[in-house]
Amino acid sequence: MDPVAKAAELRRQIEHHDYRYYVLNEPEISDSEYDRLFRELKNLEEAHPEVRTPDSPTQRVGTPPIEGFEQHRHLIPMLSLDNAFGHDELRDFDQRIKRVLESEDEVEYFVELKFDGASISLTYENGVLVIATTRGDGTTGENVTHNARTVRGIPLRLRGDLPGRIEIRGEVLMFKEVFAELNRGKAEKGEQLFANPRNAAAGGLRQLDSRLTAARKLNFYTYGVGAVELDTRRFADSQSGILSRLRGLGFATRPEARVLNGIEAVIEYVDQIQTLRPSLPFGIDGAVIKVNSLDTQETLGFTARGPRWATAYKFAAEQAFTKLNNIFTQVGRTGAVTPVADLEPVVVGGVTVTRATLHNYEDLGRKDVRPGDIVIVQRAGDVIPEVVGPVLDKRTEELPVPVAPTECPECGTALFQKPGEVILRCPNKHCPAQISAKIRHFVSRGAMDIEGLGEKLIDRFLELNFISDLPSIYRLKDYREELIGLEKLGEQSVDNLLEAIEASKTQSLDRFVFGLGIRFVGDRGAKDLAKEFRSLDRLLAATYEDLIAIPDVGPRTAAEVEEWLQDPANQGLVEDLRKCGVTPTEPEGPTSDQFAGQTFVFTGKLERFAREAAEELVMKMGGKAAGSVSKATTYVVAGPGAGSKLAKAEQLGVAVLTEEDFLAMLPEGSL
Ligand code: IVH
Repeated sequence: MDPVAKAAELRRQIEHHDYRYYVLNEPEISDSEYDRLFRELKNLEEAHPEVRTPDSPTQRVGTPPIEGFEQHRHLIPMLSLDNAFGHDELRDFDQRIKRVLESEDEVEYFVELKFDGASISLTYENGVLVIATTRGDGTTGENVTHNARTVRGIPLRLRGDLPGRIEIRGEVLMFKEVFAELNRGKAEKGEQLFANPRNAAAGGLRQLDSRLTAARKLNFYTYGVGAVELDTRRFADSQSGILSRLRGLGFATRPEARVLNGIEAVIEYVDQIQTLRPSLPFGIDGAVIKVNSLDTQETLGFTARGPRWATAYKFAAEQAFTKLNNIFTQVGRTGAVTPVADLEPVVVGGVTVTRATLHNYEDLGRKDVRPGDIVIVQRAGDVIPEVVGPVLDKRTEELPVPVAPTECPECGTALFQKPGEVILRCPNKHCPAQISAKIRHFVSRGAMDIEGLGEKLIDRFLELNFISDLPSIYRLKDYREELIGLEKLGEQSVDNLLEAIEASKTQSLDRFVFGLGIRFVGDRGAKDLAKEFRSLDRLLAATYEDLIAIPDVGPRTAAEVEEWLQDPANQGLVEDLRKCGVTPTEPEGPTSDQFAGQTFVFTGKLERFAREAAEELVMKMGGKAAGSVSKATTYVVAGPGAGSKLAKAEQLGVAVLTEEDFLAMLPEGSL
């Protein structure tokens, strides 16, 4: 196939899988298969730059900095909405509409989530994204096309043919989970934290270097259209119809959006949305209520402020004021010593909060938070509430400035700071607080999932020397008799606990790795490691080069994991756990290690089997199959028609095999 056609085919496939993943939430292929397609397209574009198109999915990774933003005038202005607070203001909104329509008939409304992000307008010409702009002053915004291209939920090309021009409106937002993860990283590096997901998203859109936008992993939901200049029939005749059409064009919409008859049904539903709010993966600050019929919308028209046919029902902020009673120090499992606020109980976003994080002592100093202050508490993104800052007007007397500890509050060891970090750490590996936190993490639900071993029991067991480290959990069974009767533990609960401990011995490799509590290795990172190495032994032998070669592992994590693996104390820990019978269940995979440490790239036409089957075989035998040739490649297996990959192999001096050579390496009967 010629490169132009091949690139088009790959683009089509990747777009299809993006749509399955980001819009339908029903991926058809594994992440690694997706990565392979992506790499293949990237390599092809590198070898033949002329096949690269602006709508290529490879352009989502971002491009080097631009000089500044151009101004762009919206074809149709981006208006804002009137607000309604409380049920009565919704009834007023409904009354106004009925008055203008001169009708007492119930109005059909469409209720949507009010996404708490940054609004954006996307112009597509003949189905291709040509320009993306921020809202700006509503008439003119900034051209942020280079950044919008990095947002996965924004199709670079629409599904199906759409001759003409259309402006699509929606909100770019950051998922709570991504927000929490980015802020964790920032806190560790001592960088200023993002205030909330909205700022992180809005700031992300306004980067000059779109690689920085890409790093923020933003998302997009659409809620309507601006100018529609299509030479087809009418785009839709209702707001719900517009959203269905947009869904058909490849945009993600939310399942919560609903057609409802009459304002009372709307009121009932917005209350329901409010209860849903904490469980949504992104922030909303209300619901938007729109008259569903476009004809009726036209009749209603606009006021100076915005459309008469829509209003924003605002929820109470997920922020609250309360008194900061005290600041105490918490020692985490990695020895991080962080300030925690002890608060006068306050309800924030429907949950009573008594403790909130103050991140680190530098942040605390910068914000000038003092015990006795009235502070703003916020539940942003993360489930862990945080103190945003003090309300200085309310500070009527001199309050003591908190000082950062110099010694661990638990074990008295002098604290230290890694160069370039603001987090204080307790270096004592035997610090009881650290051990307790380590054990809590190891047994937690996302890790070894040992039910019944909660914080209280862990601390009691530590006190009584029944446990002292992770391996000792597996020796608890020696104390069965002593455990019965302790802390109200009956015989049955002790046996249940011991059983849960036994069962955890064969927990999956990724959970085990997560449970080890290696810095920067969260549950997702642990999955990547398990998937990549497939066995504990191979993971333990991993080098920085092996780690950095994993697509989602960056230099910071690779260095941290390597350091962890090389620490004799950690090696001893894993050894001890294994001696106790912990044998994590490895992901299905290699049945031999004949190709361990070797990476194959197949290119050109193979006679005996499909490329996927050959790659599968390599992985079964412990090797890796890659889509592109690099210095890390051991062999390139080239068949007839091999092109750029073969050339690259020759250039880099990578061994090239024929299919016959490869077949000869396989043990008998493996085909
Ligand atoms: S409709 C003329 N629908 O809220 C109608 N806006 O104050 C204009 N927003 O800047 C907007 N979710 O970015 C609409 N489902 C939704 C929305 C939504 C969030 C934002 C939008 C706009 C602001 C309006």
